[in-house]
Amino acid sequence: MSETTVQSAELRPMSEEAFGAISRLARVEAGLVLPPGKATMVQSRLRKRLREIGLKDLNSYSKYVCSDEGVAERRFMISALTTNVSHFFRESHHFAMLRDRVLPPLIDRARAGGRVRIWSAGCSSGQEPYSIAMAVLQAAPDMAQRDVLILGSDIDPKILAMAEEACYSGQQVSGIPPELRGNFLQERGDSYRVAPQVARLVRFRELNLLRPWPMKGQFDVIFCRNVVIYFDQPTQSSLWPRFHQALAPGGWLFVGHSERISDDATHLYLSMGQTAYRAAGPGG
Ligand SMILES: C[S@@+](CC[C@H](N)C(=O)[O-])C[C@H]1O[C@@H](n2cnc3c(N)ncnc32)[C@H](O)[C@@H]1O
Repeated sequence: MSETTVQSAELRPMSEEAFGAISRLARVEAGLVLPPGKATMVQSRLRKRLREIGLKDLNSYSKYVCSDEGVAERRFMISALTTNVSHFFRESHHFAMLRDRVLPPLIDRARAGGRVRIWSAGCSSGQEPYSIAMAVLQAAPDMAQRDVLILGSDIDPKILAMAEEACYSGQQVSGIPPELRGNFLQERGDSYRVAPQVARLVRFRELNLLRPWPMKGQFDVIFCRNVVIYFDQPTQSSLWPRFHQALAPGGWLFVGHSERISDDATHLYLSMGQTAYRAAGPGG
């Protein structure tokens, strides 16, 4: 088949039935909501994957990924469909709160020999957990020698590989306050690498928020920002009690600017201001 024929088959629009099947699968696998208005976006994101695996059009892709033989492909489909936009020190008011209210008692505890655990759930390419690590080290450089860890998790293995690489463009690091760049970034030609003392505080792990969470200990702080916005309401509602359970008593939860804890879970949290919460104790 000539290249032109392959390309025109690839560009044939996805049938409504094929789009419906992909959209249902994305919801079941990852909680993602893909209404018909997102069909063009879905098609353009999946076309690249189509070329990688040598399938001729999106209708065949839909059949394949929904079949038993296509189970392994679902992970790649979800990777293609997730939105991975992130920035260093995104929603800077959360970082001000982290510095002024959240970290001081945690730093005291770490200095007294206790452990501190922070989770960036849906961490994308790593800017969020690295920003948290920079904020911790800025507040107390000795945290590099204490029992402090930041877990960065995401459903998307491709984006996690980028997070592990810890290498960013000049434009990407522009959100890092200038006074932190000298200590926490290393220039590498055209790009910048997160300094080793920052990277050492962070561990990455592939984790689908809809599935069981294998972590055993509780977290002092959870950032889950700009993640649940892509989920349907029942999925969002199911997550708030699970985050509450994963938090230590009084632990902090930060969500994205357009996200809110569902009404049926507000009794589990105390509002601490703009999109910031603390886990309420037993009985609310
Ligand atoms: C827009 S990014 C947010 C990144 C970062 N939290 C921030 O606010 O800058 C959303 C991330 O959520 C991840 N994600 C989507 N569905 C997920 C799921 N079911 N489980 C875990 N992560 C998921 C995506 O792969 C993506 O990297």
